[in-house]
Amino acid sequence: MPEIYPCLPDFPKRGNNSFLKSPHSVRAGGIQWPFVRCGVWIFLRAKGRKALKILVCDGMHESGLAILQGFRELQVDVPEQISPLEVKERISQYDAVVVRSRTRITAEVLREACRLKVIGRAGTGVDNIDVQAASARGILVMNTPGANAMAAAEHTLAMILSLARHVPQATQSMKEGRWEKKRFVGTELFHQTLGIIGLGKIGSIVADRAIAMKMDVIAYDPHILPEAAAILGVESVSLDELLARSDFITLHTPSTAETRRIINRENLAKTKPGVRIINCARGDLVDEDALHEFLRSGHVAGAALDVFAQEPPKGSPLLKLDNVVLTPHLGASSIQAQANVSRTIASQIADYLLYGIIRNAVNFPSINPKDYEKIRPYLVLAERLGSLQGQICSPVQRLEIEYSGSELETLPLQPLTQTVIKGLLDPVLAEKVNLVNAPLLLRERQIELLASSTSEAPGYTGMITVRVRGKKGESSAAGTVFPGGELRLVRLNNYRLEAELEGINLIVQNLDKPGTIGFIGTTLGNFNVNIANMHLSRTPQRDRAIAIIRIDEEAPQEALDALRTHPNIVSVEQFKLNAGAQ
Ligand code: NAD
Ligand code: MLT
Repeated sequence: MPEIYPCLPDFPKRGNNSFLKSPHSVRAGGIQWPFVRCGVWIFLRAKGRKALKILVCDGMHESGLAILQGFRELQVDVPEQISPLEVKERISQYDAVVVRSRTRITAEVLREACRLKVIGRAGTGVDNIDVQAASARGILVMNTPGANAMAAAEHTLAMILSLARHVPQATQSMKEGRWEKKRFVGTELFHQTLGIIGLGKIGSIVADRAIAMKMDVIAYDPHILPEAAAILGVESVSLDELLARSDFITLHTPSTAETRRIINRENLAKTKPGVRIINCARGDLVDEDALHEFLRSGHVAGAALDVFAQEPPKGSPLLKLDNVVLTPHLGASSIQAQANVSRTIASQIADYLLYGIIRNAVNFPSINPKDYEKIRPYLVLAERLGSLQGQICSPVQRLEIEYSGSELETLPLQPLTQTVIKGLLDPVLAEKVNLVNAPLLLRERQIELLASSTSEAPGYTGMITVRVRGKKGESSAAGTVFPGGELRLVRLNNYRLEAELEGINLIVQNLDKPGTIGFIGTTLGNFNVNIANMHLSRTPQRDRAIAIIRIDEEAPQEALDALRTHPNIVSVEQFKLNAGAQ
């Protein structure tokens, strides 16, 4: 069996690629197209024999390693403790890298990553990975959302209870030979208010457990509807209200521009005296200097921290305070969570490297399986319309994509847009263009993008129109999918057509005068270029006509020049679509 390489980073390309068929794969419009099951994409392409190498940086639970090691096609290296310098030095040998939170995959590391296809994060937060730099290089970044949520939520509960009843401090005191009952009088959780910032996967589990302990739970999450919070038994409030009402505040958001230092001096000043703060999310959500100040003053009665701005937090004054409970980023460190994230990322990486299946990518849009069945032929159409325009109109300054028709109305359009862009840029760029880096490459080339959808019925159930403006002027190409999945170019500028979007084609525009078609046929015959089929159209005024001529092999430049010598011929362009037809 030939080695299988993922197709997403440079899927259907002109050339002699052979496409393998997986049990899930489907042919549409002549080329192998991704098939989605359970929100995943599958792309396939076969190539020569070469082991796919995976570098596992921060250790991995044996159950995940066993999955990777179970494939003969995969070679897995698990160095004991790899330094940042070693990662940089070795990354060029690998097709995939798996990290937890210790190893940073920076832009500098990625510059060396010439064969890297995927970065797997065995965990949730991807803040140790430069996702933008990875996207620019067409490298997929995937994580395992939720796989360690239970562990992190339960750890948060452990932190809340530890804080409330001084468990770690009392343990330490006893180990030092004391019996200090008065010193460690705690507080009950019953009817105390827990304020949750970030009501996502972990925040929701924490809420559920806290409600079971009869706490009053309020939450601030601007991205969750109050109705959705209410279903969980949680009252949705503003940040200020949460700060003012909470006895315990726990953080469960990702680190973003809005959440970084959300617990700062100003917000701490709005909290109740005696409040307790728990952070098991990300260190930079808290201004540690401000927290230190408020803990020292006693306004904040205690803090429980699992994560730190710098890890480990060497020399942090927080380590010295009695009213602080600390754990070394242990939120996800349960046996079950480690096995879970490890198995999840291992199968995601193997599926991607071996079959091109994409799950949980953070830099690629996902499509649910139901939509995917409908969108699949339109993805092929989008790629081909983009490619057609890229070949006949480059360099392009502006790209406008319009989606119309009832079938497209309910489908996710972002993957289609990325596919048009990929099609547009792929024929003209030497560098690798794929669905991950296509939008960035478009921006880098200062190409303006406008994507819109209209409910207007275009006469087809679904139509994609790709308009480009470039140095050569403007061009508009519209296509549709006929029943049975046949792709058709139905409009090219002012011409109405029904041309196939396959293989090698010539577009010949001419004055609508007798004898021109005969001349085209004879001239191509003189250069031994065989015509497979031809679609003709003309303007309503009948002054100009167009011929889309499918040919069996590429026409040499001399044949194109010879066609251009005829006085009735206005323009001749050649374009090539998909490998399957060549
Ligand atoms: P999630 O994506 O399911 O939930 C995050 C929630 O934060 C979402 O509901 C989102 O709407 C909300 N949010 C985003 N911006 C916000 C803002 N400005 N204000 C308030 N809420 C906002 O993520 P999750 O799986 O629940 O993970 C939460 C955090 O926990 C992440 O930072 C993750 O990296 C961290 N984590 C830590 C550990 C650990 O070992 N300590 C383990 C797992 C996850
Ligand atoms: C995560 O984001 O998943 C956590 O930080 C857990 C970890 O990787 O240790």
